[in-house]
Amino acid sequence: MKTIAVLTSGGDSPAMNAAIRAVVRIANDKGLRVLGVHRGYNGLINGEVEEMDRSSVSDIIHRGGTILRTARSEEFKTPQGREKALNVIKVLKIDGVVVIGGDGSFRGAQLLSELGVPTVGIPGTIDNDLAYTDYTVGFDTALNTALDAINKIRDTSSSHERVSVIEVMGRNCGDLALFAGIAGGAENVIVPEKEFSFEDICRGIFEGKRRGKLHNIIILAEGVGGAHKLVKKIEEVTGIESRATVLGYIQRGGIPSAFDRILASRLGAKAVEVLIEGKSSRVVGTKNGEIIDMDITEALSIEKKFNEKLYEISIALSH
Ligand code: F6P
Repeated sequence: MKTIAVLTSGGDSPAMNAAIRAVVRIANDKGLRVLGVHRGYNGLINGEVEEMDRSSVSDIIHRGGTILRTARSEEFKTPQGREKALNVIKVLKIDGVVVIGGDGSFRGAQLLSELGVPTVGIPGTIDNDLAYTDYTVGFDTALNTALDAINKIRDTSSSHERVSVIEVMGRNCGDLALFAGIAGGAENVIVPEKEFSFEDICRGIFEGKRRGKLHNIIILAEGVGGAHKLVKKIEEVTGIESRATVLGYIQRGGIPSAFDRILASRLGAKAVEVLIEGKSSRVVGTKNGEIIDMDITEALSIEKKFNEKLYEISIALSH
């Protein structure tokens, strides 16, 4: 292993830069040359790379986004696209590739490894939807961004004695909604993993009013969606003024939290070690505080279990 490449792919997440920094610096320390690939797999197909050293990654630990830029590559999904990428890898004498991204990006890494290129994935997504790891890089920051917004919306919700539906990201995974709901003291959390009863929500709103509650916060996961429709229905049935806020992309950016920076740094270091050990088609992650690595195919085959216990706690604490 003499030269490795690093790329970020799919939706960006806070602390991807911290992961790039760790990969570059640890690899350099271990005598490896590092090429940064621009715009994800598209950059690999088009040979858009830059040589990186310690100073290329200075002053980025605190920055959201990704200095390498990112993309969702349609071309890489085709055998022709992958063939082009393989040629670039051969020409540039790349011996291993670190992919920072979510499940789609990992599927790309899996396909690349099938072509004989050693790959390792670092989980970078705000969704926390990869079952093999307790946390993905960016989830904690996105959670705190959502929480900050919930606190602010709660103020105005109480002043106006309104119901507030707040939609958070997370694709088909309810983790961001559930964690934000508990931390934000929401009255209801609606996630794709659980059925919900509109009647129960309305009953809860009336019950809260009766007990003198000024606000009613409902966290709605993106995977369920329809915040605006939901507030309209709530207003029609309860007669209480209701407002919807879709948090959207503010959750994807911003200054990464200490937790995410540390996680990204540890995972970046591990990814380099894994490649140096001569392993391929691996992902790195965290289990019970320990940094682990696992086969990509195995990791992607693990079904994400919804945290029922946490959901029960959110219900118990919400009224
Ligand atoms: O995977 C991260 C994520 O932000 C999801 O929560 C969301 O569904 C999706 O990306 C949005 O993707 P795009 O950036 O392509 O709009």
